[in-house]
Amino acid sequence: MNGQVLMFVFLFALDAVHGQASYSIPEEMSRGSSVGNIAQDLGLEIRRLISGKAKIYSRNNEDYIELNREKGALLVKERIDREALCAHTALCALHLQIILENPMEFYSVTVHIADINDNAPSFDKNELNFKLIESTNVGAKFVLERAVDLDVGINGLQNYVLKPTDHFSLKLQNNADGNKNVEMVLQKPLDREKEEQMSLVLTAVDGGEPRMSGTILILITVLDANDNAPVFTQPIYKATIAENSPVGTVVVTVSASDADGDLNSKISYSITNTRDNIRNIFVVDKEKGQVSLIGNIDFEKSRQFQINLLASDDGGLTDSCKVIIDVEDVNDNKPIINIMSKSNVVSEDAEMNTAVTMINTEDLDSAENGNVNCFINENIPFVLKSSKNNFYTLVTDGELDREKSSEYNITVTCSDEGVPSLFSSVTLNLHISDVNDNAPVFDRSSYEASVVENNTPGLSICTVKASDADWNQNARVSYILEDSSVNGVPVSSYVSVNAESGVIHAIRSFDFEQLKEFHFHVKAQDGGSPPLSSNVSVGIHIQDANDNGPQVLYPVQTSGSVLAEIVPHSADVGYLVTKVVAVDVDSGQNAWLSYKVHKATDRALFEVGLHNGEIRTVRQVTDKDAVKQRLTVVVEDNGQPSRSATVIVNVMVADSFPEVLSEFTDFNLHDKEYNDKLTFYLVLALAVVSFLFITCLLLIISVKVYRWRQSRILYHSNLPVIPYYLPRYSDTLGTGTLPHVYNYEVCRTTDSRKSDCKLDRTASHNLLVMDPTLTRTMPMRQSEKNILDEPDSPLEKQS
Ligand SMILES: *[C@@H]1O[C@H](CO)[C@@H](O)[C@H](O)[C@H]1NC(C)=O
Ligand SMILES: *[C@@H]1O[C@H](CO)[C@@H](O)[C@H](O)[C@H]1NC(C)=O
Repeated sequence: MNGQVLMFVFLFALDAVHGQASYSIPEEMSRGSSVGNIAQDLGLEIRRLISGKAKIYSRNNEDYIELNREKGALLVKERIDREALCAHTALCALHLQIILENPMEFYSVTVHIADINDNAPSFDKNELNFKLIESTNVGAKFVLERAVDLDVGINGLQNYVLKPTDHFSLKLQNNADGNKNVEMVLQKPLDREKEEQMSLVLTAVDGGEPRMSGTILILITVLDANDNAPVFTQPIYKATIAENSPVGTVVVTVSASDADGDLNSKISYSITNTRDNIRNIFVVDKEKGQVSLIGNIDFEKSRQFQINLLASDDGGLTDSCKVIIDVEDVNDNKPIINIMSKSNVVSEDAEMNTAVTMINTEDLDSAENGNVNCFINENIPFVLKSSKNNFYTLVTDGELDREKSSEYNITVTCSDEGVPSLFSSVTLNLHISDVNDNAPVFDRSSYEASVVENNTPGLSICTVKASDADWNQNARVSYILEDSSVNGVPVSSYVSVNAESGVIHAIRSFDFEQLKEFHFHVKAQDGGSPPLSSNVSVGIHIQDANDNGPQVLYPVQTSGSVLAEIVPHSADVGYLVTKVVAVDVDSGQNAWLSYKVHKATDRALFEVGLHNGEIRTVRQVTDKDAVKQRLTVVVEDNGQPSRSATVIVNVMVADSFPEVLSEFTDFNLHDKEYNDKLTFYLVLALAVVSFLFITCLLLIISVKVYRWRQSRILYHSNLPVIPYYLPRYSDTLGTGTLPHVYNYEVCRTTDSRKSDCKLDRTASHNLLVMDPTLTRTMPMRQSEKNILDEPDSPLEKQS
């Protein structure tokens, strides 16, 4: 276009250029402002202008300038905006032709429109929004808006200013087209945590006078980056907890904060201990930071826990802290009683302060909870002595007596000083061992027993019994017959004592008539070492048996002479003829005699007093009665069975003695001779037998004495002496291995004037008759044998 304008100007210049004028006016002049005096400048008269109907021709019908013909002046017709007219063209001019008619003339007028600074630089938008992550690197560039200034030249856009400049700086880069690229460069790291929003102002300024400027607001939002680690409020947390606290107890709550926002500040807590058992005992709430118990804590195992806690945000940044938990002791452990050494048995003669048991106590708790005191049950002869280091010794504290208390259950109780206190106990079973401190004690202070005479040897008479309060061997009582003598004979030949059972046996058959009672001592001795003993007196009473028949003392039965009682014819009824006098060596009932007439020449003439043995006439004697009357009187004792003797009483019924004599001599002469001879032989035989018997007896007694001495030596050597009774006694009677039966000899003094010994066999021929059934059963057999007999002796004497 400029080219076209130039071409026109050039054309005019060729054709009819008469003159030129050039003006320069600033833009934006008000209407009517004068541009220039054209008339004058072109050398034209006003008339001509008028006549020539001068008018302005503008190629583009631009109507900015008008021509005032009357004044010959060019005036601003319309506001001229250079920017609208020429935009960025630096030289802006209006090319006008003033055309005149009659004649046609034209003149070129150029009106230069000078720029004035009427436009401020401006931006398209009011604001620019940026969202920058805070981790954006320094040096990052951000392209900004360019401003536009319609003015040109100096009035055009000259510079930009960015404020504030603490984070960003402005960088202008000249483009090829002459424009500038506006960039801001991050100079300093962003920190959302300090400044989340930033507003900057970019100002574009021109160079006009006055300067004009345009601004744009730059809003920067800093986006969070996880650039902040969580931070615990304390580096170390401390807490205490009692042991045995229940599961779930909250121990402590930790807290960490994270300066980041949103997700980047979401903290989770965790325990990082790995080696120890912490994770089995404690747990931390991931979100709340509560450290609580999930296991048991035992002061006795650990007194302190150190938990390493980690707080981490989602971005993986972390902080750690330590939680120190002190455990408080609770009295949860009973004292433990250890028996260090123990004797189960203590002798009853143990001295005071004999140690029986040693114990040691332990308590896992500490302080008062672990202070232990021990004691034992009361009223026992023991005491618990305490020594250092929780050692205790149980010692005897008094006399022990197994016989009173053979066993003690000693309960040792140990308690600690905690509140409440805990205790434990142990029972010691202690036996008291026996010492031979008790002698055997007999059941009774003395024993009395009776035995019926003529007993069988070996008969058990009675039993003595002693008991010993001691135990076992110390209480094992043996019975020993104490040496003594009865009528000069050792008591051991009368009785024996069974050492174990205490049964007293008769060794021989007793004869009441010889021995009514005897006493001896039995010793009871225990098996202790040394043995203890005691003795008791035993009295044996021999009871009478009816073993003796009555013996008739009167009338005297002689072989030589026959006595007769004389009854005169004149005798009255009740006349006392004679009195049968009999005795019985037995006693009591056995000796209570009664008299009866067994046979009589004339039963009606005499009677005998039942108890007094008096023979009296029953009726008057007459001449018809025989002169010789013979009465057989039976004397009977009252024993069971009874024994009796018979006596023949001759009675002469005569008035004078010679009468009687002549009657008797005839029937006695023959007998007398025969009897004298027999008596001689018998005496001789008896002497021989007696001699032999005494010789044997002496021999045996000497053997026996020898053996007895031997046994005394044995006895003193403390060997157990256990007398026992030979069972052979019963055998001899039962089987008859010693079948001899001693002849019972009756030696009788028939008269004080005449000493005579007769076999009863011979007596049957005389007046005195012994009942053979009674004598046969006399139980005096083997009486001597007992003396001779000896346990181990092969010698069995038969006399
Ligand atoms: C001691 O204890 C034992 C066993 O418990 C029991 O048999 C015995 O009778 C007790 N002794 C005493 C003297 O209490
Ligand atoms: C029996 O024992 C008493 C003491 O109890 C004693 O004095 C006496 O001598 C003893 N007698 C015999 C025979 O041992």
